[in-house]
Amino acid sequence: MNPAVTARAHTNIALVKYWGKADTDLIIPQTSSLSLTLDQFYTDTTVQFDDHLTADEITVNDTRLSVAASQKVHKFLNLVREQTQRTSFARVTSVNHVPTAAGLASSASAFAALAGATSRAAGLDLDRTALSRLARRGSGSATRSIFGGFVEWQAGHDDASSFAIPLEENVDWPIAMVALVLDARRKKVSSRQGMQNSVTTSPYYPAWKDVVAHDLAAIKPAIQARDFTTTGEILEANAMRMHALTLSAQPPYSYFNGDTLAAMQAVQHLRDDGIACYYTLDAGPNVKVFCQVADLPAITAHFAQQFGAQNVIVAHPGPGIQFS
Ligand code: PMV
Repeated sequence: MNPAVTARAHTNIALVKYWGKADTDLIIPQTSSLSLTLDQFYTDTTVQFDDHLTADEITVNDTRLSVAASQKVHKFLNLVREQTQRTSFARVTSVNHVPTAAGLASSASAFAALAGATSRAAGLDLDRTALSRLARRGSGSATRSIFGGFVEWQAGHDDASSFAIPLEENVDWPIAMVALVLDARRKKVSSRQGMQNSVTTSPYYPAWKDVVAHDLAAIKPAIQARDFTTTGEILEANAMRMHALTLSAQPPYSYFNGDTLAAMQAVQHLRDDGIACYYTLDAGPNVKVFCQVADLPAITAHFAQQFGAQNVIVAHPGPGIQFS
């Protein structure tokens, strides 16, 4: 009997975003990116190869996926099968520990956990760099979820050179990320579609590459120096410049909704009132607020009143991949 292996990976939020691929098949990004792994949101995935199976069996949150819905996972399993000359199918059971209907991206934690569990179940003993490269093939942001804390995905130029490195895994800085759940529905434009649309149609795309190079060079020393204001200013501007690539695409579109704009304005008002906090958001309408732990009571009280307490989730820096 082949062993069943379980891996847990946490999701991450990019402070300097990844938006655009240079190679869509290998998922080599146009630029490097930098993220913070979060403790609150994670995926537990168990994989077992079984010679008796006649197809891969994928179950997510207690629901068996259809053949069509399993395609991305099936393709990923094939990558590992190719590397190990294994032919048997696998049973994959995955549970996303993302608060009910939070509408937060789970592809980062999902593919990082899948990379860990599948490779070990197939008998591969990959180090974390190799795991990061493997996770990358499932979803770009998963590349970074192999590591905890502050992580940089170095773009590289091919499969071997594109992986994440940990900048600081155990973050002893009292910071938090407050997730505001503004719309739990599935996003209309996937990040995969959206980013390539920006690469090919936004006239601002070349400028974005310069922005990222500049922001990465500036945010790393700011994090190291525990300079909260500079870190916050960079991550907020970087998120807005990423979203400018959707507004400037052809056809133009936006991930924002009315509540997104209201939340962003509220962050500005909190700042005007002397409470330091900054916003960021990914390919969806949900806003995340970067703040210092000391300011959490005031910030969560404000957003609980604005959007309902159940829609305000506090996360802190989280760990890298774990096996059990
Ligand atoms: O990993 P993907 O393909 O879902 O892309 C993630 C893109 C962003 O979340 C918007 C940015 C990032 O760097 O995580």
